[in-house]
Amino acid sequence: MKIGIGSDHGGFVLKAQIIAHLNREGFEVVDVGNHGESSVDYPDYADKLCEAIAAGDFERGILICGTGIGMSMAANRYRHIRAALCYESFSARMSREHNNANVLCLGGRVLGVELAKDIVHTWLHAEFAGGRHQNRIERFC
Ligand code: RB5
Repeated sequence: MKIGIGSDHGGFVLKAQIIAHLNREGFEVVDVGNHGESSVDYPDYADKLCEAIAAGDFERGILICGTGIGMSMAANRYRHIRAALCYESFSARMSREHNNANVLCLGGRVLGVELAKDIVHTWLHAEFAGGRHQNRIERFC
């Protein structure tokens, strides 16, 4: 699975750690930026990732800012995006099984790296359950 990943300055350090982890796990990861710790605007990177998903460049994406809140708000403005902000692994699994989330948002200033890696692993390996959940997401997709 090809995964896109983006961050602002608040998520940059965690993003580098997640990219290294995903590469070790054998995933193909494309970084849409930012590329340093200087201050940038998170909507620019949410836009890049969401537009790349619409273009079919990635099946799923990960967005990281300081809290994950701004990224999730920006990403969920897109009709084709179902972005889930997760601070623990149960919600990450449920966001796939019940909500078919195609973007995972994380808080670089909230999460430790080991918890973040577990959330990402859980999210990438969980499958959408379909059925009644498909009917529900069709109400807003
Ligand atoms: C940047 O200071 C911070 O506002 C941003 O990373 C994010 O937390 C916004 O939701």
